[in-house]
Amino acid sequence: MSKAFELLKKAGEQKYAIGAFNVAGTETFKAITQAASKLKSPIILEASDGEVNYIGYRQLVSLARIYEKDLNIPIIVNLDHGKDFDACKKAIEAGFDYIHIDASRLGYEDAVAVTKEVVKLAHKHGLPVEGEIDHIQGSSEDHRKEMAEVLQDPKMYTDPQKAKDFILRTKIDVFASFVGNLHGEFANKERINVELLQKIKSMLPDTYLSLHGGSGIDDNDVKQAIQNGIIKVNVNSEIRIAFKLTLQETLNNTDDVAIYKITPAAIQAVQKVVEYKIKLFGSENRA
Ligand code: G3H
Ligand code: ZN
Repeated sequence: MSKAFELLKKAGEQKYAIGAFNVAGTETFKAITQAASKLKSPIILEASDGEVNYIGYRQLVSLARIYEKDLNIPIIVNLDHGKDFDACKKAIEAGFDYIHIDASRLGYEDAVAVTKEVVKLAHKHGLPVEGEIDHIQGSSEDHRKEMAEVLQDPKMYTDPQKAKDFILRTKIDVFASFVGNLHGEFANKERINVELLQKIKSMLPDTYLSLHGGSGIDDNDVKQAIQNGIIKVNVNSEIRIAFKLTLQETLNNTDDVAIYKITPAAIQAVQKVVEYKIKLFGSENRA
């Protein structure tokens, strides 16, 4: 069994979730891995299309391997919201440990077809695949001036029967459920429909469930979601916001031009966010 499968299995058995944190360069790499090392937690380091093209596929994997060895913590490298078969293939060839194919913008039959293809290739390499059909609304940005309700459309939440059909046909290992979670940080805390999540889990007992949009969800709902089958929580916006606001503050108050003197406060702010999430997800001391 590959490292990623083993870590998912352990999280499922012991009812905690592994944080999947988006990286976008050396600063966020440092912040996330330092938090994980301090709290002895396994982590998923992930990059979506914009991020992976900014860092580089092979560069991301190489850096993760160095941190993993030096800090002695398990790191799963994940392609987040892989946009098509080619992106997933590129990640597999670069040595990623986990692949998320997001076919939720396609029609159902096309989504099944592309997900199946990705699963076939990833499983040949012993890698788990996460699939998504219910487009999780929002975007990983600061939406705090808007109302969360504007984006919430429960009609688009996961239909457990459809999810079951998708999983049976594609053989994915992890399903990205849409149960009230939104991408981004909003003025109102996002609330999870725990009953729906329980229903999904009872119909899919052998599939791991992930929770995207981990920023801005009510903490108690996150804990309940983990008690009811979530083993992976994705977090991006809170990292981005902490980084940007802290960097802005530093830049407004310094005459320094040396980059390594300007970024530490922003790195520290991101580390704080990640430490908070690791404790919330219950993955502390599980490395
Ligand atoms: O795939 C990434 C995440 O779902 C991030 O969501 O920006 O709401 O934390 P977030
Ligand atoms: Zn996501």
